[in-house]
Amino acid sequence: MQLDCSVLGKDIEITDTSIPVISPYWRLKRNGDWTLLCRYEHEQINYSMLSPLMGATLSLMDGRMTFRHLCLIVQYAHDLESLEKAMEFVTKVIMAANKESDAIVDMKPELEPYIKKMDPLEFVTTTSKWKQQKRPTAPISLNLMFSNECETNCAYCYAHRRYVPESQLLPTKRWKEILWEAKALGMEQVTLSGGDPLFRKDALTLIAELINQEMLFLLSTKCYITEEIAERLVEIGMTKPINQYVREIQLSMDGPDENTADKLAGSPGYYTRAVQSIRNLLERGFNLRVKAVVTPLNSQHIYHWIQQLAGMGVTQISVAAYNRTYHRHNDNLFLNQKDRISIAEQCERARAEFPAIDLRMTGLEKMPAVTTSAIMNPTGTERPGDDKEPDKDLNDKIRRWNERAQCSGGRSSMTITPDGKVVLCDTVPQDETFFVGDVTNKSILEVWNSESLLNFAYPPREKFKGSACYDCKDLEECQSKAGYCFRDSYFNYGTVFGPPPKCPMAQNDGMRME
Ligand SMILES: C[S@@+](CC[C@H](N)C(=O)[O-])C[C@H]1O[C@@H](n2cnc3c(N)ncnc32)[C@H](O)[C@@H]1O
Ligand code: SF4
Ligand code: SF4
Repeated sequence: MQLDCSVLGKDIEITDTSIPVISPYWRLKRNGDWTLLCRYEHEQINYSMLSPLMGATLSLMDGRMTFRHLCLIVQYAHDLESLEKAMEFVTKVIMAANKESDAIVDMKPELEPYIKKMDPLEFVTTTSKWKQQKRPTAPISLNLMFSNECETNCAYCYAHRRYVPESQLLPTKRWKEILWEAKALGMEQVTLSGGDPLFRKDALTLIAELINQEMLFLLSTKCYITEEIAERLVEIGMTKPINQYVREIQLSMDGPDENTADKLAGSPGYYTRAVQSIRNLLERGFNLRVKAVVTPLNSQHIYHWIQQLAGMGVTQISVAAYNRTYHRHNDNLFLNQKDRISIAEQCERARAEFPAIDLRMTGLEKMPAVTTSAIMNPTGTERPGDDKEPDKDLNDKIRRWNERAQCSGGRSSMTITPDGKVVLCDTVPQDETFFVGDVTNKSILEVWNSESLLNFAYPPREKFKGSACYDCKDLEECQSKAGYCFRDSYFNYGTVFGPPPKCPMAQNDGMRME
């Protein structure tokens, strides 16, 4: 259910009678001496760190006090000279919190059931202490790989899928303990990756435990959902709401016929199984999204695929462009310019004909970024937009680098693989270079704060000797805030200790990614 939230200072003005409240789509959390404002949603972890003053002020916004009332309390608590000064201060706090988010909204009765009550005392901390803390003292989320195996063998799959013998899989009991610890550490959302989360024999027991622990997650699968499995998923609560959400099941089917869907899934009969899975889920009222990874093999069938899904009653559909995989990449799976134009046209047509469908496009809305080497040496694989000017392109690269997404690995999350080995990203090879711990007999917290993990996520400057990072004034900020993609550095240049191709300081633009 989508809640209607009016963002203060953006959608509506802040007045004396506004009732500021932290939106149900955000959480204020204590993490060590930090206060964090975290997005609460199925997939992404997005958070910002707040000063103690800001954190303590926001913690009062639980939807019970008007702006004026709140300012009176703040005036008293901070010993401010006038109510006007307090109003100025609280306005600044709201505007700062909403600058890059939509976290502080105006209270409405409909929001009441979804508002989290907070204890403001929990957010009081001394100024000096929080500055000493360099990173979250506990992860904000986890990426869980219950299995590295699948029923399919998708042509485009980015996952390493290291074989783990059954005898070495983390036992059910240990997975449950990990989930309990995650809950006790204040986590409310996890991501599931793999392999296929439903492949394990006890997968439904683990999913049931996640539901018992009130975790929000998205279940992406290509396993066959028989009637029996669909029934079990209903029984364990997959169709029940968790706060304002119903957990989503994402099922992939990459085309409207056997020829395309079976080929891309690398599994004869996949199309027939996927159609039946979709029916079994829809009949039972699941929150279902059907997804396709688009490659030149299915790019001409997207409209028919959407038309077919619409006919079956599917209302949420995603199409995502193929991205390079480091484990089984095939250049022929990259979309070319004509494919992209065709996909855009087919999606536009589908949007016009099926307006009730929520159609998401990922990596397809615009042409992918052009890199300087593509222009200066336009020989390799075709790259769209080769006619741009080099200077403009370099400026674009710098701008994109400055706006890059935060890397969550070791900063807010870590990935637990099926035998308990911990890595920082689900696309890296699962081998000794990338293992940073093991939860078989260590707690989440022990691994999170271990020397091995810290050395990997925040390597000392000496490790970068010989690379542009060694002399870079941004190294500390690059590591502590945004992060840099160590996976891309490794695959392009053979080392994790250097700038990735997206950094303007990288030795060259590296391989084509999308
Ligand atoms: C690695 S899978 C793991 C979950 C599950 N096995 C599944 O396929 O849904 C997660 C998602 O990534 C998508 N995916 C895998 N490889 C991809 C690639 N090279 N480019 C874009 N999406 C990819 C899959 O289609 C799936 O939706
Ligand atoms: S995309 Fe998912 S189902 Fe397909 S091989 Fe990869 S992990 Fe398995
Ligand atoms: S990745 Fe780029 S910005 Fe970051 S430290 Fe290295 S050279 Fe500097």
